[in-house]
Amino acid sequence: DPGLVSPVPEQLPEEHAALPSASAFNGPTNIRCYQGFWLSDYLSAAAVALQRRFEPCRDDIIVASFPKSGTTWLNALAFATMARRAYPAADAGHPLLRLNPHQCIPFLENLFRSRAEAAKLEALPSPRLMNTHMPLGMIMPGAGGCKVVYVCREPKDMVVSLWHFLRHLRPDLALADVLDSVCSGAVPYGPVWDHILGYWRASIARPDAVLFLRYEELLRDPAGNVRELARFVGLPFSDAEEEAGVVQDIVKLCSFGHLKPLEANSTGQLDPLVPVPREALFRKGVAGDWANHMTPEMARRLDEIVADKFHATGLTF
Ligand code: A3P
Repeated sequence: DPGLVSPVPEQLPEEHAALPSASAFNGPTNIRCYQGFWLSDYLSAAAVALQRRFEPCRDDIIVASFPKSGTTWLNALAFATMARRAYPAADAGHPLLRLNPHQCIPFLENLFRSRAEAAKLEALPSPRLMNTHMPLGMIMPGAGGCKVVYVCREPKDMVVSLWHFLRHLRPDLALADVLDSVCSGAVPYGPVWDHILGYWRASIARPDAVLFLRYEELLRDPAGNVRELARFVGLPFSDAEEEAGVVQDIVKLCSFGHLKPLEANSTGQLDPLVPVPREALFRKGVAGDWANHMTPEMARRLDEIVADKFHATGLTF
C-alpha cells in the first residue's frame, strides 16, 4: 500500500492549494478533497495525470480496491490466473515465490508520478495487469475502455486492518483516531463508502467491464471466485485445466498461509521510501477480527453510517 503513505510531493495546478484540507488519523497525514475524494498531494498529482493521460488497451485489466481490503491477495490471484500459461501455479520457479504480490503488478499511482510512465506501461506483456487504489472517477475516462476487478471488504475489518498497518509507522496510534477519520470520510482515498459505491454502481451498469468481488466471499469460496475472475478476464479454465487441478494450484499458491512466510513477504520494506515492513501486508487474513479490537459503541457507530450510506444500493454488509 505505498499509496497510503507515499511522501513525495508532485507538481499540481496552483488552484489545488485552495481545496479543502484535512489531517487524517489525528496526525501528520495531510490530504485535500479533490473531486470528492481525499488524497495526499502525491496522489492528487497521480489522479490528475491519470485523468489526462491514461489510455489503457481494451484487454488491460485493472485490479482496484480501497486500501486494506484484500489488494495483496487479489493482486496475487489475478497475476497467477492471468500469467498461468507462462508461469504454472505449481511451478517451483513461480514469480510469487520470490516476489511480493505488489512487485508482480505495477501500481498506477506510482507509474503516473512521472512522464516516464508510458514507456513502462508499454513494456508490460499483454494482456496487461495493473493495480490501483484510486476511486473509479480518477481512472476514468481511460478505464472505460478496459476491464476492472474490484475487491470490497467489510468496513469494520478494513478499519482494524488499517489501524494495524498504520501502527507500523505510528506505534502509539489509537484505533479511535483511525475510526474517527474513516467515519468523517477524510482518509487517503476516502470516503470509503463513495469509493465502494462508485465501483459497485459501475459493476451493475456494466457487468462486462467491472467485476465486483468481496473479501469475505474470497475467503468462503476462493476456487469459485478464481473461476469467475478467469472468465471475466477472458481466460476461462479449460476442462483439461480443471481436471489437472489448476484452480486449486492457484488458490494454494496465493493462500495466506502459503504467501505469508515466504522471504519476499516477511523481510524488507514495502518501498525504499516508506518504512513499513512487507510483513505488514500479511497480518491475520480473516473475517470478523474487528470484534477483538472495537468496543460495541465503535462497531455500532460505523455500522450505522454504513447502513445509511448503503441504504437502497443493493449492497449489504
Ligand atoms: P488483516 O489486517 O485483517 O489481516 P491489502 O492487501 O488491501 O493491504 O489488505 C490487507 C489485508 O488482507 C490484511 O488483513 C491481510 O492480512 C490480508 N491478506 C493479505 N494477503 C492475504 C491472503 N493471501 N489471503 C487472505 N487475506 C490476505
